[in-house]
Amino acid sequence: MIARKEYNIGLFSCRFFDRFWRVVRSSLSMKTIHKIFFQDARDLKEIASESVDLIVTSPPYPMIAMWDDMFGSQNLEIQNALARGDGRQAYELMHNLLNPVWDELFRILKDGRFACINIGDATRKVKNDFCLYPNHAKILNYLIDIGFSALPDILWRKQTNAPNKFMGSGMLPAGAYVTLEHEYILIVRKGSKREFKTESEKKNRRESALFWEERNIWYSDVWTDIKGAKQSLSNAMSRWRSAAFPFDLAYRLINMYSVKGDVILDPFLGTGTTITAAMTSRRNSIGVEIDKSFQQTICPIARHIVDFSNDYLHDRLKRHFEFVKNRIQSSLPLKYTNRHYGCPVVTSQEQFISLDGLKAVQGRGDNIFEVIYSAKPLFLKYMVE
Ligand SMILES: C[S@@+](CC[C@H](N)C(=O)[O-])C[C@H]1O[C@@H](n2cnc3c(N)ncnc32)[C@H](O)[C@@H]1O
Repeated sequence: MIARKEYNIGLFSCRFFDRFWRVVRSSLSMKTIHKIFFQDARDLKEIASESVDLIVTSPPYPMIAMWDDMFGSQNLEIQNALARGDGRQAYELMHNLLNPVWDELFRILKDGRFACINIGDATRKVKNDFCLYPNHAKILNYLIDIGFSALPDILWRKQTNAPNKFMGSGMLPAGAYVTLEHEYILIVRKGSKREFKTESEKKNRRESALFWEERNIWYSDVWTDIKGAKQSLSNAMSRWRSAAFPFDLAYRLINMYSVKGDVILDPFLGTGTTITAAMTSRRNSIGVEIDKSFQQTICPIARHIVDFSNDYLHDRLKRHFEFVKNRIQSSLPLKYTNRHYGCPVVTSQEQFISLDGLKAVQGRGDNIFEVIYSAKPLFLKYMVE
């Protein structure tokens, strides 16, 4: 449990966290709570040590031109390095700005919990030097140095319609280089394996399980089926800089690496994708974003999350029913029955999966949202379709 004395914070935050932890502590609660801080994630003193169950995030990518101004505004030396054509120095300095965030994440993550970091490498010509800036390797090495254990990562193969599949010297060897069409999702763990000891922890874990057919795709090390983000942002500045990741990506990671009632953190929140995926997954969440202009995007989305989430969960169930239909047609085994939906499933571990439909979302003060879920598992009305 979080010791109150660890909160080195003001009155407002104390009151907020009292409420936050009250909801979080009762894992059977049909409510979750979500809080956004508009501030720099390099100092997260508002968040107690060992209080977060999962981190899902994507930082600004060093050496990708769209982030030059943001990095440059935080350290003038970066602007100077780029101006004099010293790409390697700029790359180092940009990572030096991200490193304090990784330190904070290590502090606030509980033992046995995961961090999932989406990052792309950059290719860039600075002066006459064209090369790859391997952001994923740089970040992973740093995470290992500060104490995280690396686990197999996920290669996210982005679907692109780019007409120029290769660059450099065209058809002529040996100067062409391959097109960069993938990003990484680094997966790291703090400490030893998470344990589920009490009967209620085990029950909650069973209810948080995935369907067999989902597991086979989600736990693959190459993801090819997730398309880029579709977000309609309210302001052109935010649109330019958001580089949002897709909802599916955040939803999947949250459901793979946490259980219902957990606390999810995104220290580079952007348009709020991680928070909305946490709401849809019955997890609590905290988002941190340095650029306050994103408030105009995140808060309206959060307020209108109920229909979006319920449709998304409905589609997830529908995909399972479709899978069951095909499996029956192919005379393949479906030995078990899910207790909540009465539908066939492949393994005994899927018998207790229940998806929680959302009933309402309520604002609870500045940038705080409470989501209320239906007491019954999702959507019996859809089962008769
Ligand atoms: C790649 S975007 C994240 C996009 C997000 N995953 C989404 O789905 O919208 C990185 C975000 O980090 C924010 N950011 C950059 N430096 C930050 C810092 N030191 N603290 C908090 N946020 C920061 C940027 O403003 C930007 O919104």
